[in-house]
Amino acid sequence: MNLKEVLKLVDDLVFARTGKHLNDLQERILQGTWEDGDYKEIAKAVNRSEDRVREVGMELWQILSQELGEKVSKSNFRASMERLQVSIFSHFAQDYVQINTVNFCGEILHPPNIPNLYPPNQETANSKQTKASHQDLSEMPKLGAFYDSPSGDRFASRTPELETLKTWILQERCPLIAIAGISGIGKTTLAVQLVQQIKDEFEYVIWCSIGASHTLDEFEDKLIQFFSQSEKLDSPATKPKSLIKYLQKHRCLLVLDDIHNLFSSGELAGKYKPGYENYRSFFKQIETLSHQTCFLLIGWEQPREVTQVKSQNTHIKTLQLTGLDIAAGREILKDYGLAEIENWDALIHRYQGNPLWLKSVATLIRDVGGGLTELLPDDTILLPEDLKDSLQQQCDRLSELEKQVLSLLAKESDLINLKKLLENGKIPPSDLLNALQSLSRRCLIEQQGSFYTLLPVLKQYMSL
Ligand SMILES: Nc1ncnc2c1ncn2[C@@H]1O[C@H](COP(=O)(O)OP(=O)(O)OP(=O)(O)O)[C@@H](O)[C@H]1O
Ligand SMILES: [Mg+2]
Repeated sequence: MNLKEVLKLVDDLVFARTGKHLNDLQERILQGTWEDGDYKEIAKAVNRSEDRVREVGMELWQILSQELGEKVSKSNFRASMERLQVSIFSHFAQDYVQINTVNFCGEILHPPNIPNLYPPNQETANSKQTKASHQDLSEMPKLGAFYDSPSGDRFASRTPELETLKTWILQERCPLIAIAGISGIGKTTLAVQLVQQIKDEFEYVIWCSIGASHTLDEFEDKLIQFFSQSEKLDSPATKPKSLIKYLQKHRCLLVLDDIHNLFSSGELAGKYKPGYENYRSFFKQIETLSHQTCFLLIGWEQPREVTQVKSQNTHIKTLQLTGLDIAAGREILKDYGLAEIENWDALIHRYQGNPLWLKSVATLIRDVGGGLTELLPDDTILLPEDLKDSLQQQCDRLSELEKQVLSLLAKESDLINLKKLLENGKIPPSDLLNALQSLSRRCLIEQQGSFYTLLPVLKQYMSL
């Protein structure tokens, strides 16, 4: 700690108590004390009487004692400041101190022993205060090409979605946000882009890809290990705590990708696999307890406790991602070497602007000679093998009930209304409604009011 840092720290403390910054005389007294001078030497250096210097010094020690809740005097001033610095670093400095440069932000400092000093929402939205940022993004995929619309912004095609997510995370400080959508629609890509844009707003940013076996215990251990290792680097005195304590203490962004791996195949969407049910109470805790962390859940299926919440006012949010717009879709087709043709827009529309499907079909068309779309009827839906594989993976997860409802919908050439579906005579109404809800949460069917339809690509797949 150097003199400049000490003066800044004392100035903050004095300002917090008196509303006034240090004057020249006070600064010179602090400097003399820091350099081990006695009152006589300081008085001589500042050309004032020793009594006056002592009086001003005593006032300063009194202010500091009151502000720090411990006795500060000329003789222990250096030790008090050094202790305070260590304490600030280890307890709550990250909101106020830039590590290594000790950059206090002019905010009122409180004694370090006051608990829960910075409850959630106290920090201003979009706060730009510098934080000691710890990031584990080793599991975050690299961003590929991200197509834009004619506006010129490289990421324009997802700009509204990015803005919505930023509002939920940074301004509304929502604790749980789901990004749902069919495979290949661009959930992970969008989240990577988001993390790159907002990661500096957080003290901790961690990306976890949920594998086929990722129990809550394993997940918690992994995070606790990361937190405790990072804290040790900042403050060797910190003891390991429970995960929720870390999430309460620090502003964190935790991204959990491929969260569908927590749920059972052969069941309606969002039913935890045996042995994974304790995630339910974990997410419940995240929803109800006061903390500073945002969980971003990404996957084909979402926890029911998240998808069930639909009210505008809640802090649990779901973004159902839809396809890219025509301009961005055209960029993909162009990038895959397809010659521009009149029916490009129709092609993008048929594949719902799903970038993975567009890439897949563009590759097939290119590989077999390019002019293919002109040889086939306009409404042809090609199903390249990799696209079929992707659909199969998702269909394999469906319950028997959902498969039955998909077959019903596949037979219809147009939208079908709920009344007609209920008259099918095979599936009891309650089962039918549950299946429709589940398919809709998986984004496999489209709903317009009480009318339902199957995605054209899926309809084609079902007809094979
Ligand atoms: N805006 C975009 N512009 C161009 N390509 C994109 C865009 N978004 C996604 N992609 C591409 O589409 C493919 C699928 O994207 P991504 O992996 O993000 O989908 P996903 O929804 O996460 O799929 P899954 O659910 O299977 O994990 C990738 O090749 C990706 O590069
Ligand atoms: Mg993904």
